This record gives sequence, structure tokens and C-alpha cells, in this order.
Amino acid sequence: MIKFIKSTDILQVRNIVLRDNKLTPDECRFPTDEIDGAFHLGYYVGDTLATVVSLHPQNYGEITGIGYQLRGMATLAEYRGKGFGKIIVDYAINYLHKKDTGYIWCNARKVASKFYRDCGFEIISDEFEIKGIGPHYVMRRKL
Ligand SMILES: CC(C)(COP(=O)(O)OP(=O)(O)OC[C@H]1O[C@@H](n2cnc3c(N)ncnc32)[C@H](O)[C@@H]1OP(=O)(O)O)[C@@H](O)C(=O)NCCC(=O)NCCS
Repeated sequence: MIKFIKSTDILQVRNIVLRDNKLTPDECRFPTDEIDGAFHLGYYVGDTLATVVSLHPQNYGEITGIGYQLRGMATLAEYRGKGFGKIIVDYAINYLHKKDTGYIWCNARKVASKFYRDCGFEIISDEFEIKGIGPHYVMRRKL
């Protein structure tokens, strides 16, 4: 089941999946977590928060229209490959589509680029490196 959740509820899954569980929850916050228009979705299996994603209003480069950046996409290892990631991204896409958003973009890890392609995103940048994390592309989903 998908729920809108508080950013603070997301930090533990972010830490486990995206930061090797090496940080404090506070260090897993993004500066954009609480800005106007930001929202956070969680996919629950029973009481377990299995998948999280965060979005906030943010344009990319010169692309016109209302843009949202997707961040912190993460599914706990034991719940991967069950479709929860795609379900939650599709939910965000439908939600923002109704709000006249033009596009969603993200800095996609190269290893996750197939996942984003399957969600309708396309690569719009050259490959670039994020220090300590690895190769990335900017990917965009037109709405
Ligand atoms: C990418 C990720 C969020 C997908 O979540 P999910 O709930 O497994 O997604 P779905 O079940 O809807 O989709 C599965 C697809 O994800 C991709 N995937 C599966 N395991 C993956 C992994 N360990 N790393 C990256 N992508 C993976 C595959 O493309 C898979 O498609 P396939 O089944 O046709 O091969 C999840 O694998 C994850 O948390 N990975 C580690 C963190 C990460 O890379 N996040 C993205 C940061 S940009």
C-alpha cells in the first residue's frame, strides 16, 4: 500500500539502501526534504516500509514547464524485483500529472538506469561521476 509519509519516516530506509547504513538518520536528510511542494511516498508491506521516494519542485537546466526532481529512490534489498519501485514511481507520475507538472528528472545511478527507462525516463545527459557513489546520468520523464 502506498502512503504519503513524513520525510523523517524515510531516513532509515534511505540510510540502509543508499548510504550503506553508515550515517546517522540526520545525515540522510536532503536540504530539499521540507521545501514547499516536496513530498515523500512509501510502499508498505504490512508494517514494513519497503520502498521510498522523495520529490520536490526543481527545474533542470533550460527545460521549460514545471519540473520536479526525484530523489532517494530505494527498495530494501529483500523486497527488490517485486514491482514496488515501478508502482511508487507510477504513483508519483500520476499525482504530478494531475498537478500540471511538465516533467520529472533525476540523477540516476547508471546501475539503475534500466529501472528508470522501464518507468518511461530517458537519458538526457552524458555520463558523470558522483564522488563516492559512482557513474550517473540525468534522466527525464515527460508528463
Ligand atoms: C532501483 C530500485 C529502487 C528498484 O526498486 P524495485 O522495487 O526493485 O523495482 P521494481 O521491482 O519495480 O523493478 C525492478 C527493476 O529494477 C532494476 N533492479 C533490480 N535490482 C536492482 C539493483 N540491485 N540495483 C539497481 N537496479 C535494480 C532492474 O532493472 C529490475 O528490472 P527487471 O526485473 O526487469 O530486471 C532498487 O533496486 C534499489 O533500491 N536499488 C538500490 C538503490 C538504487 O540504486 N536506487 C536508485 C538511485 S538513482
